[in-house]
Amino acid sequence: MELRVAGGRRLAGHVGVGGSRNSALAVMAASLLAEGETTIDNVPDNGDVRLMGQILQGIGVGVRRSDPHVLQVRVRRLIHHEPDYELSKMIRASSLLIGPILARTGKARVAMPDGEQIGPRPMDLHLKGMRALGADVAVEHGYVAASVSRLSGARIYLDFPSVGATESIMMGACLAKGTSIIENAAKEPEVVDLANFLTLMGAAIRGAGTDAIRVDGVDSLSPVTYSVIPDRIEAATILSAGLITRGRVRVMDVIPTHLDSVLSKLAEMGAELDIGPDYVELAMAGPIRACDTKTGPYPGFPTDMQPQLSAVMSLAAGVSVLTESVFDNRFLQVDELRRMGALMRLESRSLIIEGIERLTGAMVRAVDPATGAALILAGLAAEGETSLSGVEQIDRCYEGICGKLNRLGACVSRFGATHASAVGEEK
Ligand code: EPU
Repeated sequence: MELRVAGGRRLAGHVGVGGSRNSALAVMAASLLAEGETTIDNVPDNGDVRLMGQILQGIGVGVRRSDPHVLQVRVRRLIHHEPDYELSKMIRASSLLIGPILARTGKARVAMPDGEQIGPRPMDLHLKGMRALGADVAVEHGYVAASVSRLSGARIYLDFPSVGATESIMMGACLAKGTSIIENAAKEPEVVDLANFLTLMGAAIRGAGTDAIRVDGVDSLSPVTYSVIPDRIEAATILSAGLITRGRVRVMDVIPTHLDSVLSKLAEMGAELDIGPDYVELAMAGPIRACDTKTGPYPGFPTDMQPQLSAVMSLAAGVSVLTESVFDNRFLQVDELRRMGALMRLESRSLIIEGIERLTGAMVRAVDPATGAALILAGLAAEGETSLSGVEQIDRCYEGICGKLNRLGACVSRFGATHASAVGEEK
């Protein structure tokens, strides 16, 4: 399947942003902690969420969509401790299942996730966390195998504020005996969202959103109805589409403070922003100004927006320097953007981007979701047509992004049959 993007159209209009994929995945995993039916609202319908749903079904959990964006997760008293190996391997978020399964059943056997091209994604901090909570943990035969009679509270320092490790430990600690403190915890909005969900279920969590999270273990949690936060990466991508096409777009149903670091960069590049309580409107006229940026853990600039920003910078007046500090090899977009004429070179962990006046459409390939999004942005601004393969990668994280862009006046079409329903959705 491929996407064809006709370049050169100025985007204008407004569009709603869906629920956060990363929040939804964590909340789905956390729903295992309570017996009964949890309802999760504002869940995006994308590839990774579907895969997580299948994984949960495989361990005996009922997962049903009562509406395209509402998931009903029915958790029985007994759940199986070993999710399907092949499915779990395919998605990093399956590592979020270890803590809840362990807390509920006393054992967990979860596949080590596949390696990813964006750089090594070790599990050491997840494992360190589970060990600190009293579990015996081994990596054997491709699995993380953990067992414990009951998790017990501990003080855990994370060497890096890992989102996944913070979430895993927080989930495990909720049903542990005693108090846990996670130091140098991740502060991402998705971590706070998960903490809010767990708190609604009856957990005692303080400090989520700061670098020290305290969890007082409780004996049980109850199922709830919860709505996940808006997807800040989808919102930032659409705003960047407005900027790169010199358009005027408004993203609605967002939490603007979650976008602070991105908005300040877009403003530095020349965008005018109107920030409301639940919307952001971007208007861009005139040349894109070059600027320097470094990705970092929240509230730093999100690594999941770095490739998209590099596409915008490729059309700036002047030289921009974009430094990646979260993943080791996250410049997978570079060779593809070069095919479209971009002038960029890598120096260690920094991409030096010499802005040019125009990109030209080319045949390019998305190797991960953010690269795909970056190439769509480049295609929107390029002269001529861009055909993009690897669309499944974009569908893993983004729901109906092409349809949303088309509503703003873009001309992006899908060719090929593997995602039949999406073809209809995205007109
Ligand atoms: N890290 C370790 N050891 C660990 C865990 C992480 O060294 O045990 C390192 C990683 O190698 C990486 C850094 O810490 O260099 C950050 O990784 P983190 O654990 O924070 O990321 P994650 O939880 O695996 C989530 C998102 C990613 C997003 C990153 C960074 C989910 C499901 N995924 O991943 O979103 O890029 O945070 O913000 O929440 C994706 O998963 O592909 C994605 C698009």
